[in-house]
Parts: sequence; C-alpha cells; structure tokens
Amino acid sequence: MIFRQLFDYESYTYSYLLASRAGGEAIIIDPVKSNVPQYLKLISELDINLVVAIDTHVHADHITGLGDLRDVTNCVTILGSQTKADCVSQKIKDGDKITADQLTLQALYTPGHTDDSYSFLMNDRVFTGDTLLIRSTGRTDFQNGDPKQQYDSLFNKLLRLPDNTLVYPAHDYKGWMMSTIGEEKKFNPRLQVKSESEYIEIMKALKLDNPKLMDIAVPSNLKCGR
Ligand SMILES: [Fe+2]
Repeated sequence: MIFRQLFDYESYTYSYLLASRAGGEAIIIDPVKSNVPQYLKLISELDINLVVAIDTHVHADHITGLGDLRDVTNCVTILGSQTKADCVSQKIKDGDKITADQLTLQALYTPGHTDDSYSFLMNDRVFTGDTLLIRSTGRTDFQNGDPKQQYDSLFNKLLRLPDNTLVYPAHDYKGWMMSTIGEEKKFNPRLQVKSESEYIEIMKALKLDNPKLMDIAVPSNLKCGR
C-alpha cells in the first residue's frame, strides 16, 4: 500500500495520499491548495491516478486544494452532506463507503468541531480530521461547532474503535504524527472527563483566537478553494 502523510508548514495540516498499488487509483484527504503542485509531482512520481479528493470538513485555517486537484485530474471531490459548500461532486453521509481499487474508506459522521465533520476508517487506521487530535480535540467555538456533539462523536464513535486502531489527525502543532485510540483514551487530557457536562465545560472555557486565515479560508473553501 502507498500511504503518505504530507505536512503543510503554514497551517500545520496533515494531508494523506493513499493508493493500494503503483499504477492504481489514489485518494487524497485534506489537500492544501498551496501544496497542490507538490502533490501532483508526487502522484506522477508514484505512478498513481488521483480519483478522489476528500475534505474531512470545511477548514477555517487553510485553503483547500479540492478545486485545483479536480481541475487537473478530474477527480471526484467529496464533503459531508451537512456542508454548505456546493462545489463538491459528491456529498457523503454516515456509513457511506468510498473506494479506489482495493482501498475502502468508511465515512463516520463525527460532528462537533464543525457540523460537517467526518472521520474515515480504513482497516487498521482512522483519519480523524479535527475531531480527535493527538492529546487534544478540535475546537468547537465556530462553524456550528458544538461540544456536546463532539463528546458524542468522541466517546460513542471514535473511542469505541479497537484500542490498536491507528489515529491520523488533520493537524498537529507539536510534531506528533500519529497515535492510537488506546493511547488517546489513556493520555489525551480532554478525554479524562467523567461526564459529558465536564467535557462541555472544558471546551467552553477555551478562549482561542480565530485562525489567521479564517475570513479568507472559509468563504474560499465553500467554493472548493477556487
Ligand atoms: Fe478544522
């Protein structure tokens, strides 16, 4: 399997390029617009054919590469059915499967960071977007975020996956690249709560500045970054 974790230095975003074999079909998750030339070069070098580009949610901190990738490769672009972005070619819902050659991603609706947040399960690993981060969780204070929904997405969906499931988030700000469900259950400080209300209190008490690019990124991402 081809599995590449790609990093954007400006927004600390992880993007993922996946394919079951050289010469075959590929999926990219959370591509960043400014890195599209780099992705296209790698796709060509690895001799893979991009057929699907997914955003786990409408991002507020970087501009998506979905539109540019579709222009060049004709790939299918995907966001969750709850999104307000009308530019994508397919909108998925909980339980839907996305395939490319031997790869299958199962969509898990995990709202809370935004109301259009999805995670994607692929065999032994899960792409958690900004729902579950390494030793943290995504903020819930804009884009219809909701700490109560996020608690449910975390405790009743993601943390019910097997402990050895590998966790690949959409961001990390400290250089951590991956984790596991079991590790996050034990060591993620936000997950050490005794109740839903305690989690909601923690999230409401975070007073975070808006992302630098938010006023540019959100409107642009509703048009797939174009
Ligand atoms: Fe986000």
